[in-house]
Amino acid sequence: MDVADGEELTVAAALAQARHHDDRIDLRVLLGHALERPLSWLLAHPEATIDGRARLLFESLWQRRRAGEPVAYLTGEREFHGLSLRITPAVLIPRPETELLVDCALELLPAGKATRAADLGTGSGAIAVALAFRRPLLQAVATDISSEALEVAGDNARRLGVAGRCSFRHGAWLAALGRERFDCLVSNPPYIAEHDAHLAQGDLRFEPRAALAAGPDGLRDLHIIVAGAGAHLHAGGHLLLEHGHDQAAAVRTAMQATGFSLVHSVRDLAGIERVTLGRWHVDHAHTADYANRLS
Ligand SMILES: C[S@@+](CC[C@H](N)C(=O)[O-])C[C@H]1O[C@@H](n2cnc3c(N)ncnc32)[C@H](O)[C@@H]1O
Repeated sequence: MDVADGEELTVAAALAQARHHDDRIDLRVLLGHALERPLSWLLAHPEATIDGRARLLFESLWQRRRAGEPVAYLTGEREFHGLSLRITPAVLIPRPETELLVDCALELLPAGKATRAADLGTGSGAIAVALAFRRPLLQAVATDISSEALEVAGDNARRLGVAGRCSFRHGAWLAALGRERFDCLVSNPPYIAEHDAHLAQGDLRFEPRAALAAGPDGLRDLHIIVAGAGAHLHAGGHLLLEHGHDQAAAVRTAMQATGFSLVHSVRDLAGIERVTLGRWHVDHAHTADYANRLS
């Protein structure tokens, strides 16, 4: 911190430490967190002094941020699909791209109908909790290999009032579902190649490796899920998978080879094919209806 010890620290001086745009955003979030104030208050009170516990907390958070720790782990929260989620270092920090996966699932899950969906590798519970929150008749099963992640997910479901419609299962991919079948299986599995240099950079250094890396080409877990999904879907049920920027063709091929129909990929806001979906054992009567819904 550039402000000398003992010198008064104002909101304006704290925010002036930003060296570039990303710093400015991080400083605002961390200062707001330390002061328990919204951004609008910070902007309206540049002359306010920060002292006592808030100053100590802010200075230690900013130091940790400068050493690379992700903001969501420092504040313990992240917004996802309009919901505030509790986040710990045991879980992946939910990404904006994954909101596309949720939007695609919501299009396929009618609001007025009781449906069942499973979120495989739920992490913070982001996908399962968002689906349950947006679809009041939906029952969600959320699975993970990490019991610490399941605790965070359960906590998020309770905080957002959907715990009564979410259940949590510990275990590996489809094995965690027993013999149950669903209307929809959704997953954002690990999909980074295990030797990818990005794993040693930025926020990824701090996230659980088991949430990120999946074999030599990043496709290991996507293939496991595609291969086993049909045994857990009703006829006409949907599989929706998030994947890496260059994996859409491989996921489509695997889904088509396994018996999924109407397989296609959806682009994110950056124009990248980010989500691939298809329908299990759909008959021709359903095809026109499905194509209409997608168009
Ligand atoms: C990319 S993170 C996604 C977390 C969350 N769904 C999200 O989108 O923010 C992948 C998740 O899969 C879980 N996972 C990794 N291997 C698994 C396995 N064999 N079976 C079940 N879950 C697994 C990780 O613990 C992690 O929570």
